[in-house]
Amino acid sequence: MRRHIHALAIAGACALATAAGAEPAPGGLVPFKIVAVDGTDAIPDPLTDKPGDAASGAKVVVNRRQGNCLGCHQISSLKTESFHGEVGPSLDGVASRWDAAHLRMIVVNPKHVFSEATVMPAFYRVDGLSRVRAEFQGKPILTTQQVEDVVAYLTTLK
Ligand code: HEC
Repeated sequence: MRRHIHALAIAGACALATAAGAEPAPGGLVPFKIVAVDGTDAIPDPLTDKPGDAASGAKVVVNRRQGNCLGCHQISSLKTESFHGEVGPSLDGVASRWDAAHLRMIVVNPKHVFSEATVMPAFYRVDGLSRVRAEFQGKPILTTQQVEDVVAYLTTLK
């Protein structure tokens, strides 16, 4: 069922992005346009028609099989979650450091914003991923809608 929904989301967003003249992305990903904003790569256009939902995004952030963001990041407002990693910086106030376009780029592929060496995974990418479990081979970690939901949630962390 989940796979079905994902396929529909891709088909819908593909039609949109193609109409806008974007290049098709490799690996069956929805095409998206990366542009430099204030000298740093960003993705200004949402990957889906449906706006991101912050409450759903919070669930993806804490889900160990999806975002697992708390494996590396601290978020003070999520006090109920027991495990908060310290590999990455605290995400408290992250919305005042980055706008939605840059947050989307960071979630899709943080290498564009940080360095090739970043340990943060690219959540919407299929090539160049290491240690991918067999069931996830050839699929991005998050769907386009999950990316948008996570971005919507991150923009609430002021
Ligand atoms: C394996 C560890 C790891 C995971 C998992 C991870 N990150 Fe990160 N993240 C980092 C590191 C490390 C940085 C700092 C950039 C760098 O030095 O590479 C970072 C930076 C960031 C930043 C920029 C923070 C700032 O203040 O500039 C955001 C936003 C972010 N991560 C969001 C997320 C989200 C959302 C998730 C889950 C979907 C996630 N990260 C999962 C390691 C991780």
